[in-house]
Amino acid sequence: MQHPSALASFALVLSGLICTHAFAADQATIKTGEALYNQNCSVCHQADAIGKPGFAPSLTNPELLSIASDKFFESTIRDGRPGTGMPPFAHLGRKKIKAIVAYLRSHSKLPNRASEVDAEPESHGDPRLGKQWFDDICSTCHGKNGDGYASGGTGTAIGKKGFLGKVSDGFIRETIRHGRSNTRMLGFSDAAGLAHLSDEEIDDIIAYMRTLDKQ
Ligand code: HEC
Ligand code: HEC
Repeated sequence: MQHPSALASFALVLSGLICTHAFAADQATIKTGEALYNQNCSVCHQADAIGKPGFAPSLTNPELLSIASDKFFESTIRDGRPGTGMPPFAHLGRKKIKAIVAYLRSHSKLPNRASEVDAEPESHGDPRLGKQWFDDICSTCHGKNGDGYASGGTGTAIGKKGFLGKVSDGFIRETIRHGRSNTRMLGFSDAAGLAHLSDEEIDDIIAYMRTLDKQ
């Protein structure tokens, strides 16, 4: 018969207490974030941040939450997306913005892969080939130059700096490959997608997108 030493069981109780405490603190932050979300964001992004096609994207989409870093969320919320309907919220300050992100993250269904995705190699695709795909497929929803809702579609402004300046090629690549479930953004690597694109073709599209905010 082995008994845990008194010291070990003390350590166990202590770590249990610390965990419970951290959990309670997290829950409090999430509650604060939820209230801030309802005050500042739900008018556009809707209750539970499910989004509204052609108006504001979903922020609780599982694929988005799994590939987006905290830095992406915090800086997008802080700076907004100039030239789109997404206003800047720098006035809220870091702490409140972090609480909103904690609330969004509380909807996560998939593991967070942001650091892995952001470490993917950069695209070395051919922008001329990418332009053809973009004009044929992507522009239908995202607009001719990735201008977003302004051009009448349901896709966001993926040709503007507010997006391109904050995401890695890995983020764009994963989104094109796998899409975002329950939105109109279907994955293009899957047979179920609108078109089956190879990894090379996807990288050509990324290379073209990278030219859009410089035009
Ligand atoms: C007036 C409407 C409006 C409000 C209010 C608003 N947003 Fe947005 N938000 C948008 C639109 C529109 C976009 C998409 C812009 C584009 O086309 O790129 C967006 C995009 C985003 C994105 C990028 C999502 C993605 O799929 O990459 C994040 C993150 C975001 N908003 C967070 C917030 C948060 C958090 C709040 C509240 C603090 C907020 N927004 C308030 C309209 C709004
Ligand atoms: C049928 C419409 C449709 C087509 C076609 C489409 N998209 Fe999308 N895309 C969307 C929607 C809608 C979203 C945002 C999801 C949401 O509203 O929550 C999106 C989101 C994205 C995002 C993330 C943008 C952000 O703000 O975070 C990228 C990147 C993207 N699409 C790239 C592409 C590319 C590249 C193509 C062409 C190969 C393409 N999309 C084709 C509808 C479409």
